[in-house]
Amino acid sequence: MSQQAEAASVGHRGQRVDTSNLWYNLFQKGVELGTWNVESLFDEVGFEEDREMWASMDPDERDQVRYLLSGFLDGEREVAGDAATNLSRIMGAPCLDHNEEKEMYMTMLTLTEHKHTQFIDIYMDEVMDDRDNFAELDPRRGTRIPIVEATGLGEVFENQGLQTAKAAQTQDPVDIAKAAAVYHLNVEGILARVGGFAINRMSDQAYLPLLNHGFKFISTDEGRHITHGVNLLKELIEKEEQGKAEYQGVKQGIRDMLYHDVPYMADFGYMFTDAVGDPLGVDIDDVLMRGGHLIDGMYNESLGLDVDYLSVINRVSDRYDEIKQWDLEEVVREQEDHYNRRRGVVADGGAEGVDE
Ligand SMILES: [Fe+2]
Ligand SMILES: [Fe+2]
Repeated sequence: MSQQAEAASVGHRGQRVDTSNLWYNLFQKGVELGTWNVESLFDEVGFEEDREMWASMDPDERDQVRYLLSGFLDGEREVAGDAATNLSRIMGAPCLDHNEEKEMYMTMLTLTEHKHTQFIDIYMDEVMDDRDNFAELDPRRGTRIPIVEATGLGEVFENQGLQTAKAAQTQDPVDIAKAAAVYHLNVEGILARVGGFAINRMSDQAYLPLLNHGFKFISTDEGRHITHGVNLLKELIEKEEQGKAEYQGVKQGIRDMLYHDVPYMADFGYMFTDAVGDPLGVDIDDVLMRGGHLIDGMYNESLGLDVDYLSVINRVSDRYDEIKQWDLEEVVREQEDHYNRRRGVVADGGAEGVDE
């Protein structure tokens, strides 16, 4: 599929802006379709039914939803922050084509990620306010929600921050490929999509209408972000295959990021299913199967990377052997203590020393 073939059939032309390329088309789609209004959705659907359902749910069912949404709450904040800073700088890199349109597109991506944060943050506070949800500190300043920090999700976000910051600094094609793989394939393409699948599955047992409405919009937005990421990576892979020296290592870099992140992503799946007894019937095997299909679709079918499936499965099962030895409650409690110490630092402006 050529980028031109996908482009919008707009008749207008610009001088600096190339209206015939894919990123212009994605930008325009973002302008037209990415305009759902979080506050209007709250007004139209309202919180009442979700609050009633929440009140009727058992504590273990609530934990399952809370764990999953906590992952989204920190995750959306992290991707929004990276989009506004590192990713925007990466789009101007000399090794990429269509810098102007890619930078335009990044404003749409940034806007929608902030809306996702807006939706989930307000939703959790309005509907799930029966327990402190540890959301007042900024994950990008190093203190994530305890369940996120205690599980592999913290590792994935850590890697995303490191890779995107490095690529923004070096503007090197291999670094950019690694950053885009973590951000667009692993976080948006696997984590966010599997998370959306889990929310759907939970709604069979506990239907939360506002949450489901919001996630339909979020999933549509993520679809455009993933299209951007896959095409950005195709561009770099094509240049590597043409034999250009500075692009050598692009494909291996993308694969390395999958192998790095996959055990931690699978670990988070376990944490909101079997570790809490899976009262809402999400089923870890279905979660893993869904993740596997997404990996196959993006890494193999779209990008032709010949990911070694056996190696992926082995990494996941090694990680499971490791985490099943944990005392999960103890691990989460340690992170909650850490969070509370950081709260103290924020409250007193850092005047008191803190033991980290
Ligand atoms: Fe998002
Ligand atoms: Fe996204």
